[in-house]
Amino acid sequence: MAAPLLELKDVCKSFGATDVLTGISVQVNPGEVLCLLGDNGAGKSTLIKILSGVHQPTSGTIQAGGEPVAFRSPRDASARGIATVHQFGGTFPLMSIGRSFFVGAEPTKWRGPFRRFDRKYAGGIAVKEMQSLGITRVTDGDRLVGGLSGGERQALAIARAVYFGAKLLILDEPTAALGVKEAAHVLRIIMQARQKGIAVVLVTHHVTHAMTVGDHFAVLIRGALAADFRKGERSREEITDLMAGGEAMAELEAEIEAFTTTEAKAGQL
Ligand SMILES: Nc1ncnc2c1ncn2[C@@H]1O[C@H](COP(=O)(O)OP(=O)(O)OP(=O)(O)O)[C@@H](O)[C@H]1O
Ligand SMILES: [Mg+2]
Repeated sequence: MAAPLLELKDVCKSFGATDVLTGISVQVNPGEVLCLLGDNGAGKSTLIKILSGVHQPTSGTIQAGGEPVAFRSPRDASARGIATVHQFGGTFPLMSIGRSFFVGAEPTKWRGPFRRFDRKYAGGIAVKEMQSLGITRVTDGDRLVGGLSGGERQALAIARAVYFGAKLLILDEPTAALGVKEAAHVLRIIMQARQKGIAVVLVTHHVTHAMTVGDHFAVLIRGALAADFRKGERSREEITDLMAGGEAMAELEAEIEAFTTTEAKAGQL
């Protein structure tokens, strides 16, 4: 079997005296959606920042295609085809759709001192790529990103990543602020990316969203990998419980234990 696209081995991350991640080992494979689940503060965004070069692990290793790599900056990760849409921000509200699509890779027209950003070309491509993802209501690349809906903005960010040849698309809660229809749209786009052989890491709090698109699931509880399983191996209830930090399960276990001890005592009488 081919080496995973990206593999973390025993990764730990501390900020000063705070251990945020401990002993995380996960694999990301082409054409697969890995859902990263867990309660608020479990360490999901921190893990994503390690995958995308924003943070460096305190210990542990990262391998890409079987070779050890060190991402010193988001640029290093993006050179490896890793595109990340972070939880907060990521798009530029006061920029046009076309400009924001090509930010950092602006197409130009004319030469020498006349060189200009090719607004028309950029807007045309951006609109075309968004339309190919089913966002048909956006037809003008000069519109400001701030005027797009949440789902349209997500689509813009995903379209951009796919256009620039991302091999791994990382999405931190892309459906969190979306209505049902818009969320369904983003999920559909995720499935399209997966069909193209792109690997996706998806952070979400929605069990339904995770179960709809996920091939592989990793659950973080207080910075540790509490469960790692594939589609169909766990029920919805088990996943929901794990996402809530396993507390409901612990309560249930305590109740059962209390019950069995009283039963045992009753038996002794
Ligand atoms: N730069 C930092 N310095 C200190 N602590 C941090 C830093 N970044 C994150 N943390 C802490 O690490 C823990 C995990 O944060 P993280 O953002 O990864 O959680 P999360 O799983 O993404 O949560 P949410 O679901 O709310 O987005 C939190 O307790 C947070 O306060
Ligand atoms: Mg987060």
